[in-house]
Amino acid sequence: MQYIKVFAPGTVANLGCGFDVMGLTLDGVGDLMEIGVEKGAEGFSIRNESGVVLPEKIEENVITPAVRMMSEAYGEPVRIEIRLLEKIVPGSGIGSSAASSAAAVYGINELLGRPFSGRQLVEFAMQGEALLGGTAHADNVGPALLGGVVLIRGYEPLDIVRLPVPDNFFYAVVHPDIVVSTKMAREALPREIPLAKAVTQWGNVGGLVAGFALGDVELIGRSMCDVVVEPYRKGFIPDYDLLKSGALEEGALALNIAGSGPSVFALTADYDTACRVADRMKAHFDARNVGCRPYAGRVSNVGARIVE
Ligand code: HSE
Repeated sequence: MQYIKVFAPGTVANLGCGFDVMGLTLDGVGDLMEIGVEKGAEGFSIRNESGVVLPEKIEENVITPAVRMMSEAYGEPVRIEIRLLEKIVPGSGIGSSAASSAAAVYGINELLGRPFSGRQLVEFAMQGEALLGGTAHADNVGPALLGGVVLIRGYEPLDIVRLPVPDNFFYAVVHPDIVVSTKMAREALPREIPLAKAVTQWGNVGGLVAGFALGDVELIGRSMCDVVVEPYRKGFIPDYDLLKSGALEEGALALNIAGSGPSVFALTADYDTACRVADRMKAHFDARNVGCRPYAGRVSNVGARIVE
């Protein structure tokens, strides 16, 4: 059996207007696991030593469908052991499930001698997302595996574009103690959208991609606007409009819901502003007796990796 330790970062999906097609990588928060692989043997186990409560049945762990699809594609017997050491709290909205399945498939691929491409790893890791929300979206697993800002240009076939992250780009994320499952947040969305809203939305998605490509943080900020999903999900977060106006007053370029929530994220052009915005968002939840955990850091260009 050969062992390695792998880290995969937290991620923010959607980035406002890019529902299910855009995501970015957070520095300083993620999952850490030890992975063991033995070729020519059979078996699969997950041991949770992270201290975070997870489903006990292996079939209910998001890692399982990702590893199963990967093993089938590999086609030869392989025994896999996973020991979870550090874990983003599930339901936080910063890509907890994606970090787990991304770290697992990345590490197994390394130990097998890299038989699979980055795109294939994304396809395997997406299966874990399907277990939770019913849909195999890649806007968390893409950045968790590949790092940076990721655009999923298409799903059938999967077409992933990595966009450069400007140097002066920071995040503030706050995870309030509110339970919003991905399933619940997806069920809140309308099945159809009016053409006028679609026009606004694709203008913003184009602006966002252009902003990243040009390194124009102001353009990124004003494009991170969502008229399709945010109006239906903001009700899960207490006084969301006030939270947003407070963050913008504090100097944030934009604020939106992180993935399906309940975390919210803001982007800023410097670290001090990110810290101030995180404090302001924490004060918002404190004032409403909602516990929360704030984070601030740099948007990262690095995805899943071997550590130690
Ligand atoms: N794009 C997904 C959603 C992310 O918003 O439902 C969920 O983690």
